Amino acid sequence: MDLKTRKAKSLKGEIEVCPDKSISHRAIFLGALSHNDLKIKNFLYCEDTKQTLHIFKQLGCDFDFLNETDLILHSPKKFSIPSKELYCGNSGTSARLITGILSSQNFSTTLTGDKSLSNRPMKRIIEPINLMGGKILHNNFKLPLKIQGRNLTGINYFSKIPSAQVKSCILFAGLNAQGKTTFEEIYTSRNHTELMLKYFEADIKILKNKIKISKSELTPNDIEIAGDISAAAFFIAAATLIENSDLIIKKVGINSTRIGFIEVLKKMGANIKIFNKRTICNEKIADLRIKFSKLKSTKISGEIIPKLIDEIPILAILMANAEGTSEIKDATELHCKETDRLFAIFSMLKSFGINVILKEDGLIIEGKKKINAMQDIETFFDHRIAMSTYILGLISKTKTTIKNFECVNISYPNFLKTIEKIIK
Ligand code: S3P
Repeated sequence: MDLKTRKAKSLKGEIEVCPDKSISHRAIFLGALSHNDLKIKNFLYCEDTKQTLHIFKQLGCDFDFLNETDLILHSPKKFSIPSKELYCGNSGTSARLITGILSSQNFSTTLTGDKSLSNRPMKRIIEPINLMGGKILHNNFKLPLKIQGRNLTGINYFSKIPSAQVKSCILFAGLNAQGKTTFEEIYTSRNHTELMLKYFEADIKILKNKIKISKSELTPNDIEIAGDISAAAFFIAAATLIENSDLIIKKVGINSTRIGFIEVLKKMGANIKIFNKRTICNEKIADLRIKFSKLKSTKISGEIIPKLIDEIPILAILMANAEGTSEIKDATELHCKETDRLFAIFSMLKSFGINVILKEDGLIIEGKKKINAMQDIETFFDHRIAMSTYILGLISKTKTTIKNFECVNISYPNFLKTIEKIIK
């Protein structure tokens, strides 16, 4: 579906954004690993999490939806052997996390995915799993993966890539391995897996960049999921960019490993208030109030990158509207997201007449040019590029068409419904 952009005079009102995608995946993974029944409140039902639900159905779990967002998960005492391959669709989280679990089962399974996922690197999980005594056959370190279940042994592993998917895969493998597994990473990536493992009373120790886990039985505890800060980022950006805006977003996750976007934006001069802080199921949440403000340029690199990795497309738009030239460095990981996201951002900004230079590990973005859509916009079927383009459209002098906008269903099926409520 192609979508025409629209202009906005201001954004006003109070909203809740969709439930957190990363935490929703993990609620199913850990709920299933507890081999019991439990309730999950505020679950995100989208294309990506549907793949995780489907995978666990094939492993013998069942899900009773009480309404759109709340469900009861039933997990059998033992996973059943899937009768066919497990399809992960577009979801890197489903593929990489399930590999950690399947590697220690007493059966073999095959993982497949769509065209984009079949092109994404899997060496980062295959190598550590093999070091633990696992066996994974692969297609040049890409999908399909044939996972031959084995008894695993704990390892000490250092990851040069700060990736929560790699970390979670190894922690799940460690949860069912002999001895202790220690995982350390160069910079801290999102820590939802370790926080939820703690919530399920696993034998886990969380130090700064290091986690230690041993074989454990999980205690089934009901879960409530925070609002998605990555989804909130689009609304925060829009309210910051559009004059006279005043927006409240309630119940958003403010986990310290996810709020790099807010930290950078505040440094750029944004008016964001965080209030009503509380904790649900080991995750910090809060309400946010955002008002229009003028921005100044900034440079980001290193440790902050994993804390805003999914927000770089929308951050690039804010940089394009700031006074001065901004720079994003150390973001090579973006080349292997749902698409080559660095190139997709470059192409999106160019199509709106913004001066931008594409580098191997980032972008240089010149701010404060007039925003003027000059052609139809390619999303490359990347949900975050589609939503970012929609926001850019709100401040563009001319209207344009966003191609294949339906890809937003991958992470946020209600995106349009929510934003249309607050556009004035
Ligand atoms: C995710 C981790 C990140 C992120 C992705 C979701 C997760 O990927 O980009 O959208 O839920 O663990 P990497 O771990 O590959 O950085």
